[in-house]
Amino acid sequence: MNVLLIDQLRPGFLMARDLVDAKGRILLARGVALTQGYIDTLREKGYSRLYIKQEDQPDVDPEEDISVIVRSRAIETLRETFDSIEQELASLRAQSHEELLKAINSENIRALVNQKALLEKVSRIASDLMDDVLTRRTLAGLTSLKSRDGALYDHSLDVCAVAIMIASAINLPTARMRQLAGGCLLHDIGMLFIPRDDDELGRIRHHTILGYELLKATDESEILAPYVAYEHHEHQDGSGLPRGLKGSNQIQRPRGQTTPMLTLIGEIAALANHYDNLLSGTPQQPPLPPDQAIEDISRLTGSFFNRDVVMAMRRVTPVYPKGTQVLVRGAPYDRFSGVVSRVNPEQLDRPWIVLIRDAAGNRVAPDEIDSREYPKLSLRTIGF
Ligand SMILES: [Fe+2]
Repeated sequence: MNVLLIDQLRPGFLMARDLVDAKGRILLARGVALTQGYIDTLREKGYSRLYIKQEDQPDVDPEEDISVIVRSRAIETLRETFDSIEQELASLRAQSHEELLKAINSENIRALVNQKALLEKVSRIASDLMDDVLTRRTLAGLTSLKSRDGALYDHSLDVCAVAIMIASAINLPTARMRQLAGGCLLHDIGMLFIPRDDDELGRIRHHTILGYELLKATDESEILAPYVAYEHHEHQDGSGLPRGLKGSNQIQRPRGQTTPMLTLIGEIAALANHYDNLLSGTPQQPPLPPDQAIEDISRLTGSFFNRDVVMAMRRVTPVYPKGTQVLVRGAPYDRFSGVVSRVNPEQLDRPWIVLIRDAAGNRVAPDEIDSREYPKLSLRTIGF
């Protein structure tokens, strides 16, 4: 499986994963052969890349964190929620941050948001996602592909799935996990109101505060955890936004703490948010392959991300996800390449690999090796 840019796609290439569009419909299913018409439609919808299955590669389907049916239903609900809130508050868009804050806290906005029972639906979706994600032992290690229109929904769902899995790795109580999941689904809702000419720092500062204020104002605030919206851009060392709060780098909260500290669910969401941004790419940075994304997170552990939370994440996140291509270094397979055929849940950086080509690039008879048996081998993801 390779990740190809839209310009590299040719008719006849095979889809390696299902593609669910911004309306929650399956746009192209796994195994479908691309036509020029499909490629043009994908470009129109703002997809920048696609997972393609190589014909000479073994049949290894990548895992998904969220099943297609649950993802479709969740996208539909999120779209409905975001659209309604955006419509109700459309007139606020042009106002200053202070005016927006005042409006969000006004009685009629609260009544509007609550009366629609919209957020109740979101909390039901959060429960469905928990049921779905928790049937798996590890994350897939790959995020969904984002179109221009659907990026906010897919990002929210992917962050939610990663957060649920981290929460399960630290045995977060179910009620708290549901708050985290609901908060993740709406963590970027403040993006609906920020002025278009905001710079990058302004956008981060404003969407976190506005999201927090909006969720805090709702009847569902218990379930939807406004702190997830508030703190998902904060850092352990206090260098984050909007409040610059510090963290303890632990899961256990220190006793007798008097100064305000980051909440655990905010810290989990911050890590899940960053991981999805690394894998999916942002306007500032192209996407990273999964192994490099994990290296980036390691680099920022302790300063940006809670050390204990990162450790929990590493227990559920494959470094070389199933279906991805790897280059092997070290004897006896130096410079061979292959495809990850199985992830080993006990050792997420030592998968099973089906070797396909030797160092000279010649095809070898497919041979599955367990990389745990070759401790000297090192692996690098390729094809991204
Ligand atoms: Fe955000």
